[in-house]
Amino acid sequence: MSDREEENLREHTFDGIREYDNPMPAWWTRTFWATFWFAILYVGYFHSKVGRDVVDEYDADMQAFYDKQTADLLALGEVDEPMLGTFIKNKNAMSEALAQFTKVCATCHKADATGDIGPNLTDAHWLGGNTLMDLYTVIKDGRNKMPPWGKKLRPDVVMKLAAYVGTLRGTNLPGKAPEGKPLAVPPVPEAKRD
Ligand code: HEC
Repeated sequence: MSDREEENLREHTFDGIREYDNPMPAWWTRTFWATFWFAILYVGYFHSKVGRDVVDEYDADMQAFYDKQTADLLALGEVDEPMLGTFIKNKNAMSEALAQFTKVCATCHKADATGDIGPNLTDAHWLGGNTLMDLYTVIKDGRNKMPPWGKKLRPDVVMKLAAYVGTLRGTNLPGKAPEGKPLAVPPVPEAKRD
């Protein structure tokens, strides 16, 4: 028995048997402590709301899905009622549209869309049609004193604005006196307001 092994022998004997102090290998203890600290950090991060929990992850995944769907639809280049409807479900698209509306449309329609130079977009009366496609066409091409925004704004922004105005239909906020003819709100295909 080497000196080192002798050193590592414990003092006590039992029935002539002596115990050898055989520590766990370093890789094992290191792994143990790594998992120990990992668990503490993990609980601290995920259970104290510092980090993203599964609900946040889910929301982020859904948002990524809607963004991708929007990009795919734009790539197809075909604008129709269901395609515009998908923007309504996309929170990013709706907040982008709201920001644009406040910036460029509010001058004539007011920030809450209750009308000023342009008509109230929340009432039940419409100068033209009120399907998402009708809204898209008037925003893109303009009509009378309504400027053609298709010349100034990105195509996807015009689509998002049409979808946004679509969410205002039937909200009936008091504002400028009704103009045009009364129309029921057409159903939004494949997408409902959240
Ligand atoms: C310079 C003023 C002006 C601005 C800015 C403006 N509009 Fe208009 N808008 C009008 C007028 C005026 C009409 C009525 C057009 C008509 O006589 O048919 C109108 C009509 C509309 C209609 C159709 C309403 C209906 O009853 O058929 C929609 C939808 C609309 N605007 C959306 C928008 C959006 C979205 C924007 C921002 C991108 C915008 N407008 C910016 C003046 C404006």
